Amino acid sequence: MSKNTPSPATGSRATFATRLGAVAAAVGSAVGFGNIWRFPYITGQDGGAAFLLIYIVSVLLLGVPLMIAEFCIGRSAHRNVVGAFRKVAPGTPWYLVGVLGLLVAVLILGFYVVLSGWTLRYTWQALANQMSGSDFGAFVSDPVEPLLWTVLAILINVGILLGGVQKGIERASNVMMPVLAILLLILVVNSCFLPEFRHGMEFLFVPDWSKVSGQTWIDAIGQAFFSLSVAMGIMVAYGSYLGDNTKIGKTALQVASMDTVIAILAGIVIFPACFSFGVEPGEGSGLVFVTLPQVFQAMPLGWLMGLLFFLLITLAGLTSCISIFEVPVSFLQEECHVTRRTAVIISAIFALVLGIACSLSLGLWSGFTIGGDALFDFLDHLTSHYMMPICALLTSLFVGWWLDRDIIHNAITNWRNDSGWYLRPLLWLLRVIVPVGIFIIFLSGIGVI
Ligand code: PHE
Repeated sequence: MSKNTPSPATGSRATFATRLGAVAAAVGSAVGFGNIWRFPYITGQDGGAAFLLIYIVSVLLLGVPLMIAEFCIGRSAHRNVVGAFRKVAPGTPWYLVGVLGLLVAVLILGFYVVLSGWTLRYTWQALANQMSGSDFGAFVSDPVEPLLWTVLAILINVGILLGGVQKGIERASNVMMPVLAILLLILVVNSCFLPEFRHGMEFLFVPDWSKVSGQTWIDAIGQAFFSLSVAMGIMVAYGSYLGDNTKIGKTALQVASMDTVIAILAGIVIFPACFSFGVEPGEGSGLVFVTLPQVFQAMPLGWLMGLLFFLLITLAGLTSCISIFEVPVSFLQEECHVTRRTAVIISAIFALVLGIACSLSLGLWSGFTIGGDALFDFLDHLTSHYMMPICALLTSLFVGWWLDRDIIHNAITNWRNDSGWYLRPLLWLLRVIVPVGIFIIFLSGIGVI
């Protein structure tokens, strides 16, 4: 072991108790709104199975290497995102990449807690059998109601985060992820019996190569990063809780495969339903909050299916939200030396203030715009088009070209106990393929190509 190679954890820092728990937590982070509405829609629009194939290639060649890189940094240092970069590259400015990741996480929190609040409200409505898609616009622009739901979403997060890594995040993920899988399977079975099941499956799966263009690759790569929750420090934070015998490469592959399977299943739920009840599937929040409530109203047993669907999306959003919170929480705990409780409370207050501003930006404060966007959309664009690609680019270059080779080797072989056959291909992906892929989506995000 070379002198500055961090060694296995010896201290009392938290780790996930079991490998399964670690995978559940990381899958919980990865499976979110992006799987349930963004992935199915892009797939349908960009050529069905043709897109799916390109997406899988992007996940394997770009998403998985980046996740492994983040796990390596986190698990080698056993620190929060800023501390981790500082520990593996002491005395260099690389820790600024960690600072950038922290910033991305905090800004994303601002609108993610609002979105989580919306899903809670729709679940409640489904429970009270009062679902209606028509009042979505009025609801989100209301000055009070969405704020109350945002507060509730934050309180649920706080409750889980206060439990700590094992008793909070891991235990919650161990319960919520199997429930999510069961809900999804019930909805898939229901979907198979809908009259337009075939039509939905064709929309999603029949390969249409004529729709494949450069833009398809850009969509696929962007979706792969977003869906795997890389490029904002989350997988560094979760990586820092991985046990010393967890195989990093295998874990990353498992997380990526489950994330992809869940996204495909979500498509099998959504499209047959839309076609069977004669509504156009559209992209974005409109699909989930406007179109689908109409579909559920028309469907036999629709109230039940609607309830299961909104529970599903609430759980998916919640486990992602927890993982975003964990980035500032672990930072505050370790770098500012406060208790976990204080760290959670500070992060929650921050999320609340930003969340309130984001929510009001869609109604009361819609007159204030930044570059023509409401704060809610501005934060979304700023993070996904600029900050995340830069963070991902620097992370892959850092691990590929700069980081001590011993550190990576030890991380992926568990201190030379396992085979590290993929070290060389991994390094070349991180050195060349991943940066080129990210650079392309960056250029497209800022409108250059
Ligand atoms: N990976 C999540 C999804 O697919 C999105 C996400 C973004 C999660 C940012 C955490 C942080 O929806």
